[in-house]
Amino acid sequence: MPVPLTRALDAVLDGTDTVALQRATARLVEVYRSGAPPSAQVLGDPVTAAAYAAYRMPATHAAVSRVLREADRQGVLGGVRRLVDVGGGTGAAAWAVADAVPGLGSVTVLDGSADALALGRRIARNGPEALSTATWTLADLARVASGARLPSGDLATLSYVLGELPADLRAPVVDALRDAAPRVLVVEPGTPRGFAAVLAARERLLAAGWHVVAPCPHGLGCPVATRDGDWCHFSARLDRTALHRRLKGAALGHEDEKHSYVLAVRDPVPPAPGRVLRHPLTRKGLVRLQVCQADGTAAPDTVTRRDRERYRAARDVRWGDPWRPPGDGAAT
Ligand SMILES: C[S@@+](CC[C@H](N)C(=O)[O-])C[C@H]1O[C@@H](n2cnc3c(N)ncnc32)[C@H](O)[C@@H]1O
Repeated sequence: MPVPLTRALDAVLDGTDTVALQRATARLVEVYRSGAPPSAQVLGDPVTAAAYAAYRMPATHAAVSRVLREADRQGVLGGVRRLVDVGGGTGAAAWAVADAVPGLGSVTVLDGSADALALGRRIARNGPEALSTATWTLADLARVASGARLPSGDLATLSYVLGELPADLRAPVVDALRDAAPRVLVVEPGTPRGFAAVLAARERLLAAGWHVVAPCPHGLGCPVATRDGDWCHFSARLDRTALHRRLKGAALGHEDEKHSYVLAVRDPVPPAPGRVLRHPLTRKGLVRLQVCQADGTAAPDTVTRRDRERYRAARDVRWGDPWRPPGDGAAT
């Protein structure tokens, strides 16, 4: 019987030398904190791949899972049978898709790290069938710049990879994703740098005639990008495993994984009516939302108790959820 990712991770990582993992985790924290594209393979040995799986994989899995909830809400996951997870590493995005798409038939994970792929394959043995039978392929994405094609699928994911690529490889990789599947999901850390990479991918997809499904309720210029010091990002909460807490010396039992993303499709689907861009601010009798709107603007929406139906909906709405601004039909 398949087990959830955290149990599958525990089963595989149990018995790994904790001190070696702690050292490798500290090195990974440094690399990721700098945010700059690394000059060499980051997951270049089995211990570093294991540290990645223990310390980052649950978080990237949580971010992709959060995004897939939005994809599902907008009916984009129906018809997904074949996943291509590009730069898939130890398989976090593949686990998220397998969780969100019960009928997933086949998974292909491509990555430049043999150690990450080998570990991902071991972890996936405990997962659902689409994962335990997945194909794990060693591939250097640099080859797409000279015309190499990616395997085809119904959905192509690129999770926490774009920022690791040299700047001149990013557009060719986005184009290759587009050629590989009719649905493309790009997720990056929810930092100004991650957002900039996502924004460039979004522009590339729109320029090719694709349609953005989420987070944007429109295919116009991004209103957040024009605001000084602001960047569009969201948050996914996850419980930390005991191993994660040991490796990071962390006291808190949970963390919030900030992420930026774009989900785009070749054939249009109805967009969300609006998107909540911040944690809603709740005061007695009112909820204040910051909303990205279908007309390409971002604006506050203050919902008071007087507006009973919208108020009830506003009290339940979360950062990253769809939201129907006033004067745009019924409450979401
Ligand atoms: C931060 S990890 C993300 C792994 C996984 N997608 C996730 O969400 O947890 C970045 C991955 O991109 C892969 N990668 C970076 N540059 C690559 C390249 N040129 N070709 C293939 N894979 C690459 C790395 O090996 C690594 O597994």
